[in-house]
Amino acid sequence: MDSLDYINPYLFRHRGRNFLTKDILRPKDLDALLHVELRPTDIFLITYPKSGTAWMQQILVQIMEAALPGWGGDATNRVKVPWLEERTADDPFRERPDPRMFGSHLPPDMLPPQVKDKRIKVVYVWRNPKDVLVSLYHFAHSWVLLETPESFEGFYQQFLDGDVYMGSWFDHVREYCAARDELDIHFVQYEQMLKDLRGEVVKLCAFLGKDLTDEAIDRVVEKSTFKNMKTDPKANFKDLVEVHRYKSETMRKGKAGDWKNFFRVAQDEHFDKVFKDRMSDLPLSCIWEIKE
Ligand code: A3P
Repeated sequence: MDSLDYINPYLFRHRGRNFLTKDILRPKDLDALLHVELRPTDIFLITYPKSGTAWMQQILVQIMEAALPGWGGDATNRVKVPWLEERTADDPFRERPDPRMFGSHLPPDMLPPQVKDKRIKVVYVWRNPKDVLVSLYHFAHSWVLLETPESFEGFYQQFLDGDVYMGSWFDHVREYCAARDELDIHFVQYEQMLKDLRGEVVKLCAFLGKDLTDEAIDRVVEKSTFKNMKTDPKANFKDLVEVHRYKSETMRKGKAGDWKNFFRVAQDEHFDKVFKDRMSDLPLSCIWEIKE
């Protein structure tokens, strides 16, 4: 039995990140993921939680199915783009036809080193952290593995302190920015997808080396709108609501600027200060709101 470095009854810390005590993975399993055998054709989708993972899963699946008809079969996106750290290293889910796609929230130093050594393509989706905080706050009420926040104020502070699932947003984004020259990585901004989904899909296809027709790109975009994903059982994770893993839908609002409905003025000012202190040296520019 591992003795865990508990943050609270729901989270333990390992190599500077926070993992779920109610989940099956323990430090030794996380470390074993370093040795997963990868293929040069594998593709990784990496995010900090609530940054648009399911959205990018859908986009990647649609691109792959357009490029390679029949590629994924009739499964859900969760099966087609399985989560690296939800399974142990010897899980047979790794035996799939190429190209295999994997999802992960792990930071760069916890990924299998083969991601770097074999020049595996990494798609990194990031989102403005105020909306990530609000989305995670709601998700913490929904996902049975997470602690239900007692108050927004308390959760806001936990988020800034990095005492939430997967640890600090600031560290995650910083570390991927720092690793950008070592990895074959393509950054996608959630809010840019809201602004110009087609443009982002075109850039993604170029990164993945998938040459789709204009009509095929239109179909990818159409299938990946918030409205369509909400009713697409392969994309929207509603099956997890049905089996009571989630208490509410994860396709919640899908907007930029929802934080304005939750942050008080003082919280916003404090957040801006922390953001400036932690992130101002990076070549990133957040889009905090998109007016409709
Ligand atoms: P909100 O909670 O702000 O609505 P993840 O998949 O990483 O957990 O991220 C979940 C967030 O992505 C949720 O944000 C969800 O609504 C949003 N999302 C999912 N699909 C989307 C889409 N097609 N368009 C816009 N946002 C989407």
